[in-house]
Parts: sequence; C-alpha cells; structure tokens
Amino acid sequence: MAASIIDGKEIAARRREQVRVRVAELKTRGVTPGLAVVIVGEDPASEVYVRMKEKACAEAGIYSEKHVLAADTSQSELLGLVGQLNARDEIHGVLVQLPLPDHIDEDAIIEAILPDKDVDGFHPISVGKMVIGQETFLPCTPHGVMVLLEESGVDLKGKEAVVVGRSNIVGKPVALMLLSKHATVTICHSRTEDLPGVCRRADVLVVAVGRPEMVKGDWVKEGAVVIDVGVNRTDDGLVGDVEFDAAAKRASAITPVPGGVGPMTIAMLMENTRVSAMRHAGLE
Ligand code: GUN
Repeated sequence: MAASIIDGKEIAARRREQVRVRVAELKTRGVTPGLAVVIVGEDPASEVYVRMKEKACAEAGIYSEKHVLAADTSQSELLGLVGQLNARDEIHGVLVQLPLPDHIDEDAIIEAILPDKDVDGFHPISVGKMVIGQETFLPCTPHGVMVLLEESGVDLKGKEAVVVGRSNIVGKPVALMLLSKHATVTICHSRTEDLPGVCRRADVLVVAVGRPEMVKGDWVKEGAVVIDVGVNRTDDGLVGDVEFDAAAKRASAITPVPGGVGPMTIAMLMENTRVSAMRHAGLE
C-alpha cells in the first residue's frame, strides 16, 4: 500500500485563514486579540519558532509583542515580566518559549501564567481540566495532531492508538486526546519491552520521541495511520522520528517532516489566542 500524505501545511493554512476571518470579525466588535511571546537567551531553534509565531500573528491580524531577555535573566525578573503581561488587558495570551536556561525553574514560570491566558495549555490547571474533559486551552502540538487526524477522516472510535513518547508537551496530552475520542491507547517510552511489537498493533501510531528515524518502517502495521511529531536536524537535513520511506510503503496515511505536524502547532496557537480574546471580552 502506498500511503497518502497528510498535508499539514495545507491544513494549517486553512485553519489560519479561518482564524484570520474570525479575528477580522472580532475587530469589528472592538476586540483585537493580543499575544505576548517571551524568549530568554539565544537558542537558535527557539528564535526560529518565535519569529514564525510573530509572522503568523501578523497574518492573522493578531497583535503580538516579543520580549527578548538575556540568558542571565533571573527567575524573579522573568516572573515580574509574566506578572505584568498577566495584568494587561490587551494581552490575551502569554507564551514563554521553552526550553528556559537551567537556572530558571520552568514549572514556576508556567504556573505564574494566568490560566485564562495560558494559550500554550501547559499550566497545571489547564492540564487538569484537559484530563477530566473540561473546556480549556489545549496544548498546541497535540491538538494539531488531533486536527490532522480529523481532517484526514480517521475514525478513532475503538481503534488501537499507540503513542511513542511520554513528554508533558506531546506524548501524555495526545494520549488523553486520543482517549477522549474513544481510541484504546497505549503509551510507550524508552523502557517499553518489545517496542516494535507494540507499535505493530497500532491502527494509529503517533511518534514524539525526538530521535531521528527511530521508528522503523517494519514497525508499522499494514494500513496504519502514522503521525510523526519529530523534527530532527541531521546532516541529511530535517528528518522525523519515523523512517519515512519504509513506513510510507505500509501505512495508509502518513505525515511528512517537514510539512506535517510542525505547521499545525502555530495554527492552533493562533486559534487559542483568538478564543482567549473572545472569552476575555465575554463574547463566547
Ligand atoms: N518549545 C517547543 N515547543 C513549544 C511550545 O509549544 N510552547 C512553548 N512555550 N515552548 C515550546
């Protein structure tokens, strides 16, 4: 079977256009969504992501501001800035780009962001609400994975979904989201016994481990849907966590890297920021 390619670029562009139209409508009601992005230090990958977020805001008609802090910024200075952004009415989303320098406690920063401005969906209150199925901001990358599956017409009910990776940012939340769509979910990690065997059970295989081409083509069940969240820079360019060519021979559908999950993250961030602005204006 030759897999169809799940075009994240195209799906994300459609979602972003939808956000643009809704933001324009909001503006006619006197509300301009605003996103503040904070970056500490000079991680090149983070700088690229932050630039992409700013560009996406501009295209969506969302006000954005970038706060660039030196790598030696103290935790209390950063907490001070988060507090100021929390207090500003024109800012509806506060995003502190991760990772942070080692001397800063990431959890403390995430917890300082007001849950109603937590457009990343990382605050423990946001996470807790997601776990129990209450409405909240969903973290952008796993939410993007779910939109890709939905847009590809994948019916998850009763299906075997296997998630490889258990990070707080992707693995754990995507597993819960798959569960909420009635999949039977297995979460695998570095200590899973017979990882290839577990992967071969998957009707839907989501891989988020951050290791180039770790999941081999023959770990993919014939006809499975494969979502590759990995973005790894190698000498051969960007590759995912899945051995793409071999996996594509067996899968029914697969995301490419780049152009699969990546573009969805920003589209979902734009959507969360729009929703936050609506909620703050009491327009929901
Ligand atoms: N670093 C990598 N991905 C993300 C993300 O989605 N949000 C934030 N804040 N930092 C990240």
